[in-house]
Amino acid sequence: MSFAELWDSLLPVGRGPKTGGYRRYSFTEADAACREWFCDHARQRSLRLQTDGNGNLWAHWDVPAAWPSDSMIVTGSHLDSVPDGGAYDGPLGVVSGFAAIDLLRARGFVPARPIAVAAFCEEEGGRFGVACLGSRLLTGVLAPRAALELRDGSGVTLARAMTGAGLDPGRLGEDEDLLNSIGAFVELHIEQGSALDGLGAAVGIAQGIWPHGRWRLDFTGRADHAGTTRLADRRDPMLPYAATVLAARQAAAEHAALATFGKVVAEPGGANAICSAVRAWLDARAPDEAALHRMVEQVEDAARRAAAGHGVEVEVHLESFTPPVEFDPRLRARLAGALAGRGITAPVLPTGAGHDAGILAARLPAAMLFVRNPSGVSHSPAEHADPADCEAGVVALAVVLEELAGR
Ligand code: GLV
Ligand code: MN
Ligand code: MN
Repeated sequence: MSFAELWDSLLPVGRGPKTGGYRRYSFTEADAACREWFCDHARQRSLRLQTDGNGNLWAHWDVPAAWPSDSMIVTGSHLDSVPDGGAYDGPLGVVSGFAAIDLLRARGFVPARPIAVAAFCEEEGGRFGVACLGSRLLTGVLAPRAALELRDGSGVTLARAMTGAGLDPGRLGEDEDLLNSIGAFVELHIEQGSALDGLGAAVGIAQGIWPHGRWRLDFTGRADHAGTTRLADRRDPMLPYAATVLAARQAAAEHAALATFGKVVAEPGGANAICSAVRAWLDARAPDEAALHRMVEQVEDAARRAAAGHGVEVEVHLESFTPPVEFDPRLRARLAGALAGRGITAPVLPTGAGHDAGILAARLPAAMLFVRNPSGVSHSPAEHADPADCEAGVVALAVVLEELAGR
C-alpha cells in the first residue's frame, strides 16, 4: 500500500471540523478508532498483534528462523495528540513503520531478525498529564501505583479510563521480557523545528533531547465580588500567576532555555468574580540540567514572592521530568552510514521535544529519524510535512530497518 493511501486512512480520525486540529486523547472514542486502525493495518499485513500491559500496541513481523532473543528491531511512535495537535506528530512514525514494511516486502527483503511497529500510549500526556506514560510504565520509570492515581481534567482515573477501553489496569508496569527482546528502537518523527529545511535535507538523525519537565503551580486566593471588592482587600490568585508568566519568560531568556505556560485554569471561572484559585502548568526545557533547574528555581521564587505580595498561597508540584538524552552514538553512526551508503544525507540534530525513544534510550539502544517540517510549526494544526519528504522518510526508515534486521 502506498504511503499516501495509508496516511489518508488515518487522517479523519479525531480531527476537529473547526480547527482542523486533532484531539486523540487516550482511551476515548478517537483513541479507540486509532487503535482499530492500527490493528486493521497489522492484520492486513499478517503482523502478529500484541497489546502490552501498559496499553501500548505492537505489530510483529516474526521471523521463522531461530534468532537471538534480544534482537527485535522496533520502529513506531504514538497516535495520541495534544489538544488541537497536528496530523504528523506521532502518527507519521507509525504510518511510516507500516509503509517501510510494505516497501521492504515489495523488494523481497527477508529479515534475519524480527521487526515490530509500536504505537505508544499517552505520549503527549494530553489526558493524564504525564508525557510518555506508556513508555515510562513499560520501562519502570513510573510505578503503576503512581500512574493509577492519575486523573484527567474531569476527575476520571487512569484505571477507570483503561477499564472503559477494555484494558486491565492490573497489568500496568515494567515488562522486562518485552524490553529484553528488543535489540534497537528507531522512532521516525516529524521535525519540530525547521533546521532540516535550512540545511536542505529531507531527513535527519537525532543527536539527543534536552532535559525537560512539567510543573503544576496552584495559586490559592479568595473568591470575591468583582464589582464591590476594593483592590486593597483582594487576594486575587490571577495577579501572582500573571507575574510568574512574565518571570518565566525572563528566566528562560537568561538561561538560553524555554519556559511555557500553555495551560491555565481559573476556578470557579466567573467573569464577574475574583477567582479562588489558578492552576497553571509550566513546561520548562533547557540545553542542560543545571540550567533547567536554575531556571525553574527562579520561576518558583518569583511565584512565591508574587503570591506573598498578594496574600495568596502557592504550591508547586512536579508532574513529570525527563533527564537529558544522548542517543546511542554507535547506533546513530550505523544509521548515518547505512543512509550515506544509499546516497541519503541526514544531518544530526538536537531537539527540545520529548519522545518515547528518549525514555527507551535509558534501557536499550535507541535512535530517531526526523522528517523535514518546512515551517517548523508543531503541536498545532499548521504542522506540515510535504508528501515527497514523507516518502523520503519511509525510504530512509526502510534502509535503516534493512541495515538493522538484515543478515
Ligand atoms: C512532546 O511532544 C513534547 O515534547 O511535549
Ligand atoms: Mn508532541
Ligand atoms: Mn511526538
